[in-house]
Amino acid sequence: MKVKNICCIGAGYVGGPTMAIIAQKSPEIRVTVVDINEKRIAAWNDPDVEKIPIYEPGLSEVVAEARGRNLFFSTDVDAAIDAADMIFISVNTPTKTYGIGKGMAADLKYIELCARQIARVATSDKIIVEKSTLPVRTAEALKNILDNTGNGVNFQILSNPEFLAEGTAVADLQMPDRVLIGGDLDTEAGKAAVQALVDVYGHWVTADNILTTNVWSSELSKLTANAFLAQRVSSINAMSELCEKTGADVNEVAKAIGMDSRIGPKFLKASVGFGGSCFQKDILNLVYIAKSFGLQEVADYWEQVIIMNDHQKRRFAENIVRTLYNTVSGKKIAMLGWAFKKDTNDTRESAAIYVADYLLNERAEVVVYDPKVTKEQILADLDYLGSRSEAENRELITVVDTAYAATREAHAVAILTEWDAFVALDWDHIYKAMLKPAFLFDGRRLLDKEALQAKGFEFYAIGS
Ligand code: UDX
Ligand code: ADP
Repeated sequence: MKVKNICCIGAGYVGGPTMAIIAQKSPEIRVTVVDINEKRIAAWNDPDVEKIPIYEPGLSEVVAEARGRNLFFSTDVDAAIDAADMIFISVNTPTKTYGIGKGMAADLKYIELCARQIARVATSDKIIVEKSTLPVRTAEALKNILDNTGNGVNFQILSNPEFLAEGTAVADLQMPDRVLIGGDLDTEAGKAAVQALVDVYGHWVTADNILTTNVWSSELSKLTANAFLAQRVSSINAMSELCEKTGADVNEVAKAIGMDSRIGPKFLKASVGFGGSCFQKDILNLVYIAKSFGLQEVADYWEQVIIMNDHQKRRFAENIVRTLYNTVSGKKIAMLGWAFKKDTNDTRESAAIYVADYLLNERAEVVVYDPKVTKEQILADLDYLGSRSEAENRELITVVDTAYAATREAHAVAILTEWDAFVALDWDHIYKAMLKPAFLFDGRRLLDKEALQAKGFEFYAIGS
């Protein structure tokens, strides 16, 4: 079967870029991305392509090429479902904040709503593709809902986990290390559905790089990949604290171990802690699944990755307070960066949120600058944490438009995101405009320690 019409439910960080690339590479397939969020869809349709709601290097060019040709953004979810022969589900699956599995399990309410909507609307056979990160065996639940509430049409469920990293999404999608497709390989209909999706990716991905597995292997592989990646970050961050105590430098250690081809050089950068919508959520999910099968040691093993990450964020903030003579009350602290990594405007689970929260609890006057994150988003992130009232957050935190405005007359500067632009700042100018001693806390190992010390800064870098 040849796919002619794709619908994607969810126009977020996964659905938007993924569909833009599928549309770019497959001009004969009509791709419609739908979302219930009208503002988001309006932004995707903004005539000024630089105003699309997601910042990703290279993405606006891809959207400019395909939008209106075979890529469409709409709020008419029903119409898009009905017209499609393949439906991607790319809605958010946050960690549950209530009930059973609170704080650990993935909240599947958005997925379930999608399934019920598809079942209600569909009048022809469809292939349903899980794109969101989901607990193992979600496909089974999806199939149950679709088969028991549908109009008698046939649904095939595939798992096709997303491995793109934000900030490099376009390149990751155009040249993926691998594409993973899980399906029911025991039946002819299942095999045909898998092949239909293989053919979509076949427009630009070589057959060697497309893996097909059973659904559960595919679902579990996604959680495992993120758990392994996050574990590397927590491992190097654990070493960063030991380095600080012993006089070793974590960058030198990372380089030395990364040259061992069995270890490899990537994902060994010590930091103020990992963030993003995936790592914590997926590991909590893995921990929850392990516990639910009675595998306590497996659960404890992976939970330690999160415990280490929380520790790293807290100790960075504690170190700022301790260094500033054990009090930051009323002191101006400039935070450079709010996004969870460079080249994205996504702030979900960003370490910056937790560091800011800690400093605000200590009554610091926090001033934030991030090149891509809006003031509204920064305030919303703090309000969501719920540590203090919305009024207090607005009183204590200031968001400014330049790094120079943030650092002027500050007692300390903290680097939270590794934006390239921060390296290129005029640090002599910043030093002159700061209160003395001028403290600089580099949570990303972005700046050159000797060079900054030579300018006069009291410089602290994570892991050295
Ligand atoms: C991750 C996975 O990489 C991707 O495959 C999956 O589809 C989604 O989750 P993402 O969260 O977008 O992608 O970014 P990633 O590059 O993995 O970074 C996650 C966090 O780890 C960031 O906060 C980053 O700054 C941090 N990190 C990463 C480090 O602190 N050190 C490193 O060496 C690498
Ligand atoms: P991700 O990083 O997984 O892409 P996002 O939160 O950026 O997560 O995007 C998910 C999108 O899915 C949101 O824009 C949200 O409005 C949308 N969404 C959630 N539930 C539905 C639904 N039932 N129908 C349509 N869109 C939905």
